[in-house]
Amino acid sequence: MIQRFSFGRPFPTGSVVETLPIATGDVPFLTPDESGWKLTLAEDAVVYGLGEMPRGINKRSWHYITNNTDESHHGEDKLSYYGAHNFLLIRNGLGGDCFGVFIDFPGKVYYDIGYSEHDVLRFHTEEPNYELYILTGKNEAAIAKAFRKLIGRSYIPPKWAFGLAQSRFGYKTEADVREIARQYRKNQLPLDMICMDIDYMQDYADFTVNKDRFPDLKKLSDDLKAQNIRLVPIIDAGIRINPNDKACQEGLEKGYFCKKADGKPFVAAVWPGKAYFADFLRPEVREWFGSWYHTLTDLGIEGFWNDMNEPALFYSPERLRELLDYAASLRNKDNIEHHEFFGFVGKVMKLMNSPEDYASFYHEVNGEKIRHDRVHNLYGGNMTRAASEAFDRLRPGKRTLLYSRSSFIGSHRYGGIWLGDNHSSWAQLLANIQLMPNVQMCGFLYAGADLCGFDGDTTSDLALRWLEFGLFTPLMRNHSSSGTRDQEYFRFTKELPAFRKMLELRYALLPYLYSEFMKAALESTPYFRPLAFDYPDDSDARTVEDQLLLGEGLMVAPVYTQNAVGRHVYLPESMKLLRLRSVEDYDEEILPAGHHYLPCALNEVLLFIRPGCIVPVAAPAECTAQLDEEHLTLWSNLSAGQKAVYRMYTDDGETKTYEKAENWRMVE
Ligand code: NOJ
Repeated sequence: MIQRFSFGRPFPTGSVVETLPIATGDVPFLTPDESGWKLTLAEDAVVYGLGEMPRGINKRSWHYITNNTDESHHGEDKLSYYGAHNFLLIRNGLGGDCFGVFIDFPGKVYYDIGYSEHDVLRFHTEEPNYELYILTGKNEAAIAKAFRKLIGRSYIPPKWAFGLAQSRFGYKTEADVREIARQYRKNQLPLDMICMDIDYMQDYADFTVNKDRFPDLKKLSDDLKAQNIRLVPIIDAGIRINPNDKACQEGLEKGYFCKKADGKPFVAAVWPGKAYFADFLRPEVREWFGSWYHTLTDLGIEGFWNDMNEPALFYSPERLRELLDYAASLRNKDNIEHHEFFGFVGKVMKLMNSPEDYASFYHEVNGEKIRHDRVHNLYGGNMTRAASEAFDRLRPGKRTLLYSRSSFIGSHRYGGIWLGDNHSSWAQLLANIQLMPNVQMCGFLYAGADLCGFDGDTTSDLALRWLEFGLFTPLMRNHSSSGTRDQEYFRFTKELPAFRKMLELRYALLPYLYSEFMKAALESTPYFRPLAFDYPDDSDARTVEDQLLLGEGLMVAPVYTQNAVGRHVYLPESMKLLRLRSVEDYDEEILPAGHHYLPCALNEVLLFIRPGCIVPVAAPAECTAQLDEEHLTLWSNLSAGQKAVYRMYTDDGETKTYEKAENWRMVE
């Protein structure tokens, strides 16, 4: 059951797709508390959700603010990341109440989940205008499903988007891109996509191409497509200010950029220098901005990533001026006192993404002026919506790859997400594992982190261990920042066979992984989920933070610590362990339920098949287009004489005829 409560004058966020009657009477489970709500937590309560946020699968013992932030220093001391995902799924102790809470609000929501007081959960919205949904059901899985139905079907990318994507901030020329493709194919490493970062643009301006460095992007795209490799360019939120730029001119003429109180367009600097920001909350602006993607779809491009759309602001001219004036006032001082020095440093640190800047511009919603910070979290997701709705016009009936950095619940219907600027550390590999079930619970099924890590220098063992988890994530993309050590998989020459085998394993598992993804999208079921979803009465399963169930038949238990030669695994029931070195080379054994320490060498993956389940496996292929799904091997965990059938999804992977009965094939 879902109850909808309404307070004040809620802003229409577009997060939900079902219009429920507004409930009267008391909100169940929660008690009013000052400006928000409160719940007393049982000692063994578990709180899932919040999507893209720091810390573990269980969010208890920290505080959070949904405030979409360009947070490049991912660490557990942070309170916000790039997404606003205000959904909590609470199990208040073994056998205790189990319910979901969705706070439909476009601004900041503050959560204290056992941080101030270990046994108290509190939350409140910045303003008293919001809708609150309380979801109840049989167990965690039933509530998660009801929530997914409430918010509508998750975005489905083309099938080739389940192949490997190679990316880097720093592929500066056509030759760089061709060389990446050449190396992957030469080294027989599977690959389906090369992502183009802002290097391809002219002066980092959206919808432009640098003709010196990429003289014929259409030919490059066509040549790569002939090798089954798609180019996936980036688009940033800010439009470079340049009177000669068509998009800039048009946006100005039409009055489509966000404005300051005095009616002039708001200006802040991002990668291209000073930029304007489209008012994505207006349908006509979404339509206009989205249409600009044609400049690239016309060249044969079929996929995009939307970046910097919190929106990230490096600085506003006003705030930079204040800083420079302050610096000038210190210039001739012989002795700059400590408070002046720290005052200066403080001003520098506060330049980026300043709350004052977010409070200095406005959106137009149905004729009303709304200050940006009040609806901040809707910005990036509406850029995703602008692109997605444009693709329906530019490429009717076809799927277009789209993933975004910033998001809110609702934008999961238009695109996937990547998890932003992580760094090359073991802690971030664990964070990737822990983020996946929570973002997927909030509708973002097509998701993944920058494999090997974005900032900092990776190492071959971290890269390999990360791939050993990344090979199960729907978006599998290796991406890094400029100036970091090269980390394309072919760079690791000594370990190349192990990387190749892991990539091959991903492709071999695609009949299963793609089918499970499609079931999750079409049937509102989970792809990744915490163990407690399937074993709600198992007190040990509820505490597991580093294993995930994957689809109906598998459990993964990645190794995520440096120099580890194995790990502890908890099995809520007896399962078959496959210790895989490649799709052909593995040991298998049936393990009883309980706690195990399992050896796992650097080139091995631990994969568990649940009782009564079948996993269809193809022969490895160099790209998704060459997967042979007719000749499958079946991995299974069946007892003697037991029969089982696997529902496999095989469609053309390109059009949107998802619901055809012929897409399903029974495999036994
Ligand atoms: C920030 C993005 O998070 C990152 O992935 C990208 O490489 C840089 N912007 C440059 O475009």
